[in-house]
Amino acid sequence: MPAPSSAAGLASSCAWGSERTGSLRIATNVTPGGPSRGAISALGALRALSALGEPSVARWLLNWGAMKTKQVEELVLQSLEHEQGGVKVYSTALTCVVNDQLKKEWATYLEQTRTHVTALESVCEAMGIDAKRETPGRLVVRHVGGALVEAMKLAKSGGDPAAAELVACEVVVLAETKDHADWELLGKCAEHLSGPQAKALKSAYEEIEDQEDEHLYHTKGWCRELWLQSLGMKAMLPPPEEQKHVKTAIGAARAEQEADRSR
Ligand SMILES: [Fe+2]
Ligand SMILES: [Fe+2]
Repeated sequence: MPAPSSAAGLASSCAWGSERTGSLRIATNVTPGGPSRGAISALGALRALSALGEPSVARWLLNWGAMKTKQVEELVLQSLEHEQGGVKVYSTALTCVVNDQLKKEWATYLEQTRTHVTALESVCEAMGIDAKRETPGRLVVRHVGGALVEAMKLAKSGGDPAAAELVACEVVVLAETKDHADWELLGKCAEHLSGPQAKALKSAYEEIEDQEDEHLYHTKGWCRELWLQSLGMKAMLPPPEEQKHVKTAIGAARAEQEADRSR
């Protein structure tokens, strides 16, 4: 690769979308004995960018050198697909729910999930990712989401509303487990990046992370308590996770422990 003649040239040769093989070209140009003719060392490129008064671009490239761009893109696309599937999951779960308070809770989560879809579409735009691009991993996410919706429809066709509600609860917990994990990973990616791409990802993460905590921990509580109720045991409805506005795994564990002590 010929040495880029300017910071912009170097940036464009390394920018997201120009290199799909997983590692950045700037990293592959590091030559043990110094840069060969027609190549530029990573360190040299960063020095050149700094000298050109573009330290933020240099920092951005340095961070990219340590991250696998293709896999970050895969995570963003899987997350988007999962949020799109989440809209279908909540729409179907709402046809199975019996408890009025849970119905209200899931109606809120459905609206929030819709905003998560648009937030990730904006992230794709900021990062130069085609939001409609298919990947094998994305197809798997879509397949799992479709299976979860089918499972709820199957449960509903059984004619036992309470049983269908339990299935819907379990489905939401499964779906929210990946949703929560996706956003945790997206938050870590944002921490390790800089530049406008990181800014877009970080602001989406900061807006959404609390909602994802609630979706997962509160629904897990609902699932446990509704199951206990169905077994004829003392149940706490709404669950303690919701009453205490739990937003962390430790908080959820404490809420469950306290509930168990009071039974
Ligand atoms: Fe979400
Ligand atoms: Fe969620």
